[in-house]
Amino acid sequence: MKSSPTEATLPHLIGPITQLLPMSGLPAKGALPDSALPVLENTGILMEGERIREIGPFDKLERDARRSGTAVTHLSGEHVGLPGFIDAHTHSCFAGSRARDYALRNSGRTYLEIAESGGGIWDSVTQTRKASREELGSLLEMRCRQFAADGITTLEVKSGYGLSIAEELKMLRAIADAAPRVAQDLVPTCLAAHSMPRDMEGSPEAYLEELQAGLLPVVLKEGLARRVDAFVEKGAFSPSQILPYLEFAQKLGFEITLHADQFTTGGSELAIRVGARSADHLEASGPAEIAALAKSRVVATALPGATLGLGCGYTPARALLDAGACLAIASDYNPGSAPMGDLLTQAAILGAAEKVTHAEVFAGITFRAAIALGLDDRGILAPGMLADFVLFDTDHYNEILYHQGRLRPSSVWKKGRRLPDNTATQ
Ligand code: NIG
Ligand code: FE
Repeated sequence: MKSSPTEATLPHLIGPITQLLPMSGLPAKGALPDSALPVLENTGILMEGERIREIGPFDKLERDARRSGTAVTHLSGEHVGLPGFIDAHTHSCFAGSRARDYALRNSGRTYLEIAESGGGIWDSVTQTRKASREELGSLLEMRCRQFAADGITTLEVKSGYGLSIAEELKMLRAIADAAPRVAQDLVPTCLAAHSMPRDMEGSPEAYLEELQAGLLPVVLKEGLARRVDAFVEKGAFSPSQILPYLEFAQKLGFEITLHADQFTTGGSELAIRVGARSADHLEASGPAEIAALAKSRVVATALPGATLGLGCGYTPARALLDAGACLAIASDYNPGSAPMGDLLTQAAILGAAEKVTHAEVFAGITFRAAIALGLDDRGILAPGMLADFVLFDTDHYNEILYHQGRLRPSSVWKKGRRLPDNTATQ
């Protein structure tokens, strides 16, 4: 799936793109009216290798290309182009199903009640532990093919369904195995502190100490992840329990991201205190948390897939943006709380529910999602950036979110190469 060196170095022009939204020159934080969106008309993208060499009027770039013998993909019809989508929070490496949890929730049981009675995360741990490293890698690969068809060119993938040193390593190694076989760049995150393992006798503190001694140094040594996540919540880990673990991880050089304020507050305050890269969920955040996040450098990541999967409230996206926060939007794809895994649909729905402008939604799944992952080479279409982009067969960008996910990308380009049509499974 990854490009061969020769193919990847040849210059290549594509266009004309009726409307190109390069998402450049926009602020990292705060509200964005749609009028702020730069829209380039009848544009060409000249790629060289994995990156963009030039963006400009197609007619001129085409004349230059014909003179120099540069390959041209001449598009017919109307097209809208955007940076490839970045899904900054997923649990895409898992085995099994939690359809039973979903039915129980729809019958009135809460997520936390189901977890306490042996369902929830522990159920996925049991099913994921039964799968081999090879099976987990193949499952992730299959899901990445769907993500590619959805326009996702970079995705974060968490461990967290192993909950022992050996099983967390199995998950992270499965993610590393899959990485060279999938079209996207995968950003792995160690989420061993997802929940207390039910088969462990000791205290949460003892489990976290075990991870510090036996897991994090190996993750670092094998280069399996550079990010550490934890679920800060009642029934998972409290801020005071998790703080020493996060500080230890930071000393080793890991970046921190947290599952924060999903049902109760405390997590986002901790994220700010430790200087986390992002605080994700935030459905329970109130005015104090929103104001503090807006003042901080922590990216606030909304996960509308969890809202739709659990049937609960949305992340206060409008209030976060108005207060001045950097808002990313991610799918949280996981077998429990967010089984849909369709970022574009979810982002469109969040926009309608929370009155988030199209500019803010697109920012949340492109350059602001790149900030959430600490990546500065994508999320914006400009010379020198990765040639990761999506095209939609339509004449106006308003159509994309209006169709609430039904209008799918007609082509997806990753590092200068069109992803094979067999990535489209729908
Ligand atoms: O982001 N909230 C904690 N973790 C996941 C859910 C994982 C699961 O239910 O399997 C989340 O929603
Ligand atoms: Fe999550």
